[in-house]
Amino acid sequence: MQHLVDTNDFSNAQITQLLQDAKSFKAHRPPQLLHDKLLITLFFEASTRTRSSFEVAAKRLGASVVHLDPSRSSAKKGESLEDTFANLCAMEPDGIIVRHSHNDTPKILANMQSTPVINAGAGNYAHPTQALLDLFTMVEHFGGNVEGKTIAIVGDIVSSRVASSGIRLFRRMGMNILLVAPEQFMPDSTLKQYKNLEDVMDKVDVIMSLRAQLERHEKELFEDYDDYASQYCISKKRMGDRKILLLHPGPVMRNIDISDEMLEDPRCQVLTQVKNGVFMRMAILKLLLLDS
Ligand code: NCD
Repeated sequence: MQHLVDTNDFSNAQITQLLQDAKSFKAHRPPQLLHDKLLITLFFEASTRTRSSFEVAAKRLGASVVHLDPSRSSAKKGESLEDTFANLCAMEPDGIIVRHSHNDTPKILANMQSTPVINAGAGNYAHPTQALLDLFTMVEHFGGNVEGKTIAIVGDIVSSRVASSGIRLFRRMGMNILLVAPEQFMPDSTLKQYKNLEDVMDKVDVIMSLRAQLERHEKELFEDYDDYASQYCISKKRMGDRKILLLHPGPVMRNIDISDEMLEDPRCQVLTQVKNGVFMRMAILKLLLLDS
């Protein structure tokens, strides 16, 4: 039984396979490969893109999807996460897709070895399907290879599971990674760190902007987000005419993370990421439910 807790669960050969499958699913709509499969989504945190992307991906491959809304489940009556999970597993789904605010939840559930567990975002630790769809988007953009390319990750890096998983995966793929953030948003890291966005603009092929994750801060880290935006918002003025690929996992805080004008610019591929997310998740479901 294979799980996806983080991208290190996949070998390099499997990542190559995922990129190939995602590409071919994008080129030709695939047959109903998962027509006899059933997935359950269990999201303890809010989600727009990830949950619907998994559902669309599963349904495009012919699988059925059941959602459990924890805010209306027996979790509200005090049932433990493990018991909720064990009860869902007793219904014999082919996999459970889980999002939780705790870093360890997907690992704990995977260790129960009852059904494949797919991490759809855990705390600030891992969001492997986002990292893989971001990799797919960059591979596609650069015509097949990201080795030697430089990416700047800009924003609230310390709170971001997108950054955590991305850093591990992009490093493994041979990318150079620069971290750009004010002190409050900078994690402990051996990667190159910059306070000023201007200092990296001529060094990078890709910018990944991140949302300030206010809900994860115990206290307000910034008094004034206009002040933050004036230093870190990706605007047309900052980008100039540089050929930089601009990514963001969403939700974008307009004019804080990326300016309205830049969101309309063809260098900004935020909606391509969303589109590619469906194809990458189709590839991931195929790998976990059919090929493993
Ligand atoms: C992110 C998440 O929830 O980790 N969004 C996503 O899944 N695409 C990032 C965020 O909430 O800022």
